[in-house]
Parts: sequence; structure tokens; C-alpha cells
Amino acid sequence: MKKQLIGLAAAGAMLLALAGCASDSGTDGGNASGPKPIEELVVGFAQVGAESGWRTANTKDIQAAFEDAGIELKFSDAQQKQENQIKAIRSYIQQGVDYIAFSPVVETGWDAVLNEAKAAGIPVVLTDRAVDSKDTSLYVSFLGSDFIEEGKKAGQWVLDEYADATEPVNIVQLEGTTGAAPAIDRAEGFADVIAENENLKVIASQTGDFTRAGGKQVMEAMLKANPDIDLVYAHNDDMGLGAIEAIEAAGLVPGQDIKIVTVDAVHDGMQALADGKINFIVECSPLLGKQLVDIITTLNDGGTVEPRIITEETTFTQEQAIEALPDRQY
Ligand code: AHR
Repeated sequence: MKKQLIGLAAAGAMLLALAGCASDSGTDGGNASGPKPIEELVVGFAQVGAESGWRTANTKDIQAAFEDAGIELKFSDAQQKQENQIKAIRSYIQQGVDYIAFSPVVETGWDAVLNEAKAAGIPVVLTDRAVDSKDTSLYVSFLGSDFIEEGKKAGQWVLDEYADATEPVNIVQLEGTTGAAPAIDRAEGFADVIAENENLKVIASQTGDFTRAGGKQVMEAMLKANPDIDLVYAHNDDMGLGAIEAIEAAGLVPGQDIKIVTVDAVHDGMQALADGKINFIVECSPLLGKQLVDIITTLNDGGTVEPRIITEETTFTQEQAIEALPDRQY
């Protein structure tokens, strides 16, 4: 499903239409009764949790964007539990909010609650993560990164770095939350690319739940079980930072004895990259607030939005991190 959506998207596409400008490929949020004054709009946002620096930055950005726009935002933190997110969405439906936005903790299991929102006539916008629902009418748009592409970028760096390797390169993977779109896709994209060199071997792969503590714990166990690790691929900076602690505690030098590639590019990750403890970071931007507000206001004005809006992102080497750090917003 997600792949089909990605196929539909133009890379880096922004919102397609302004008020009243219909499109064949766009999706109508259904505003038959005409625009509501901005100050009367109420949006319910069901956040995943506060598991990482990325998530904290994402929450801050979304809250600030709605405050700046003068739109009331009801916010809930699901503490990385799907049942809490479902409860929050049901409560927003009961309260009769105008729009619901959420970042689904895992991909599966959303059809029932999304059908309830649809039956109540409340348009839903997915931010950051996808759901695997076959019925695309259950949400208006999905705004967020292309996680497969992120995994590919990480894999490409590893492929280039070890292009001349004549012996096996032992890679361990710290996975994000099991069942979450970024964990599934970042693993897939990475595996696709490193398959080009048979010396690149993922010798262990386990979830660290996108947290620093999880990354540290899993890395400690991996170091004990595998004395000869060459590279860590962590699905986010926080797990990579946890791995750094475990590597240093084992008397090894992160970035040298064991290379580290992560995804996100939050401030602490970028600092570790600048310090040479991480070797490469693939960016995943948490700054989705302004685009989410644009989607809501476009729909409120009776306009249409693209069903898939992909966030523009880059990658960072050590030199690029040193240059970017002073202006980094998060
Ligand atoms: O869904 C985005 C991912 O979730 C970020 O990469 C990670 O840090 C967060 O917890």
C-alpha cells in the first residue's frame, strides 16, 4: 500500500492546490459546509510518544505551527502504545473536532478507528508514519519522509565506504520499534543496497525501540555476543548515541574501532558526528508543523491536497555536520 502511495508522489511535492482549485490526483477533505473561521477550527493530534530527540522536536514544531496559525490543537502522547493512540483518536471523534492528525506508532490495525472517523465525517491526516490500510479513503493525505529512501542512503554510504573490502564486514543493526513504518522501511532500503556487495553482512539485528536506553542495552548484548563488529547501522540517532555509550564502556572507540551510521540528524546526533563518534547521518526532518497547518487550512478552504507529500531531506558527513550545527533548529 505504502509503496503504491509513494509511487503516486512527486518527490518533495508540496500541497497542490489552494482554495477551490480542484485536481484529479488531489484529495478533497470534504468541506461541504464552507470554510470555518480559523479561530473556530479544532484539530486533534495523537502523537506517538517522546521516545527520541526527533519526536520531541516534532512535537514542538507541530505545537508551535498551530499556535502561530491561531488554530486550537488538542494534543495527546500515546507513550508508544497503539491502544493509547486509538483511545485518543476515539476521544477526538467524540469531542467532534474538525480534523484529526496522527503519527501511527505501528503500521497495522487502524482500519476500525479510521472508519469511525470517516463515519463521523472527520478528515484524517497521517503525519510522519504510514498505515497499511488498503482503503485509502480512510485518510486525506500522508505527510512525511520516504523511509525506504533513507535506508538506501545509509546503505549507499556503507557500500561506498567498504567498496574495497576483501573480507567480510560485520554489521549490526539497531532497529526501531517493531512494526513501525520507519523500522520496516529503513531495514528494507538498507538491505536492498548493501546486497550489491556480498562482503557486507548483517550479523545481528534487534529492536532498540528508537530510544537511547534501548540502543545502549541492545549494543551491550551485541558486543558480548559478537567480538568483531565493524559497523553499527542504527535506525535513529538516539539508538546510535546509546550504542556509543556501550562501545566506549567496552573500551572501544566509536567512529574508529566500530563505525556508526544513523538516521535523523537531531542536535545530539550531529554533535556526535562532528566529534567523529558517528560517521554518517541520513536526515529525517521532524519539521512537519507548517506543512500540516497548510493541509488543514487548504482543506478548510475547500481545496484539495496531494495524497502523499514527501519531506525533503539530505545527508551529513562529519564536515557537513560541523558546518550545519550552528544553525541547526533541533
Ligand atoms: O518516525 C520517525 C522516527 O521516529 C524517527 O526517526 C525516530 O527518531 C522517531 O522515534
